[in-house]
Amino acid sequence: MRTVLLILILSWSVTVLPAAAPAGQTPGGQPPDLAIRSLAGRDLFNFYCASCHGIDGKGGGHVAPVLKTKPADLTTLSQRNGGIFPGAKVEDVIRGDKRAEAATHGSSDMPVWGPIFRGLDSRKEVNDARIENLVKYIESIQAKVKAD
Ligand code: HEC
Repeated sequence: MRTVLLILILSWSVTVLPAAAPAGQTPGGQPPDLAIRSLAGRDLFNFYCASCHGIDGKGGGHVAPVLKTKPADLTTLSQRNGGIFPGAKVEDVIRGDKRAEAATHGSSDMPVWGPIFRGLDSRKEVNDARIENLVKYIESIQAKVKAD
C-alpha cells in the first residue's frame, strides 16, 4: 500500500508540479488540475485508473511493471463471471467495501478509491455519480462473451 501511495504521489506530482511554479512562469495558461471535474466514466477511468489498468483496461498501464500484483484485466470481468457483468462487485472494489475479503487473498496494490473520491468532493451525490459512471464505463469495455 505504501508503494502505491508513493507511486500515486510521484505521478501526481509530475502533473501538479507546474502548478507550483510562480504565476506567469507557466506558458500556455492554466496548470493541470490534481483532480478532474468531469463526471464522465471514460475521463475518470483515463485519469485515475489507466496508469495501472491501461487505457484499454487490460492491465498493462505504465505503473503495472512495478506492482507486486498485476492489475486485473478489467475487460474480462463479465467473461470471468459467467457472462454477467459483476456491477455490484466492481462498485464494492472501487469503494473499498470489500477490503477485508480482498485481504484474505494477499496484500493488494489496488488503491481504495472510496475515500479518495470523497476527499475530492464533499457532495455525496457527486461521488456516487463518479463511481456509478466508472462502473458503467467498465461495463462498456467488456470483451464480447463467446456464445456457446
Ligand atoms: C496503483 C495501481 C492501480 C490503480 C491506479 C487502479 N487499480 Fe484497480 N487494481 C490494481 C491491482 C494491482 C488489482 C489486482 C488485484 C488486487 O490487488 O485486488 C486491481 C483490481 C481491480 C479490480 C478487481 C478486478 C477483478 O478482476 O476482480 C477492479 C474492479 C479495479 N481494480 C478497478 C479500478 C478502478 C475503477 C480504478 C480507478 C478508479 C483502479 N482500479 C485503479 C491496481 C490499480
